[in-house]
Amino acid sequence: MNFARTPRVTVFPDAQTAARVVAARLASALQDNPQLVLGLATGRTPIPLYAELVRVSAARGLDWSRVTTFNLDEFVGVPPESPGSYRRFMEERLFRHVNLDPHRINFLNGTADPDDECRRYDRAIAAAGGIDVQILGIGTNGHIGFNEPGAGLEARTHRVRLRSETRRSNATLFGGEIDKVPSEALSMGMAAILQARTALLLAHGETKASCIERVVNGPLTTELPASFLQLHADADLILDAAAASRLTGAG
Ligand code: PGA
Repeated sequence: MNFARTPRVTVFPDAQTAARVVAARLASALQDNPQLVLGLATGRTPIPLYAELVRVSAARGLDWSRVTTFNLDEFVGVPPESPGSYRRFMEERLFRHVNLDPHRINFLNGTADPDDECRRYDRAIAAAGGIDVQILGIGTNGHIGFNEPGAGLEARTHRVRLRSETRRSNATLFGGEIDKVPSEALSMGMAAILQARTALLLAHGETKASCIERVVNGPLTTELPASFLQLHADADLILDAAAASRLTGAG
């Protein structure tokens, strides 16, 4: 079902169906523009999407060699090759399965000097001409990237202290032990996300339903960073039935 409003809302029966549709859309975008600049997200939500993208890439012989990628975030103090890193997640789920040029993969390095690394990342995003399509998940607290709720939001790439609910939801990357989840991360800021030409936010499951309802109907607030997608000219919320369950008229 589609609603004529911003962000657009599309509800699929399940995450797998949503992944198929979004992967097909990304494949077409990549075929139309072989130099696509793609913003990528980690977490449980995009796992079916990356699996489907890998499948579609092989089936259609998609050429990723001129695609540029930027991932949203990385843990401070976690080396790229470490099992808990988001870099490693992306290598395993997508990067090693398609013919991306390693030089065109952009990632925050959690072991670099944080201030220099954040400035480097913003310069790289600008040099690439900004992001064409940004994939987003949403935290149970309404964060996008690691832009956590608070009294203010950062426009630029920055160092962030992670909220306890965010550390908890990342515990599986660290053997299920919340104490091992780093307390800080580097995150792309709100500007690069909101300036992406297209933003696709995926959400699955009942735990996201209340935030999604507020993203659609609530006020803009720094306490719900995803609410700023209401300002985006081309944003989609791509939901399964459970994530959409608090939206009236959805389903
Ligand atoms: P999840 O995380 O996909 O694991 O639910 C989303 C997020 O925190 O942005």
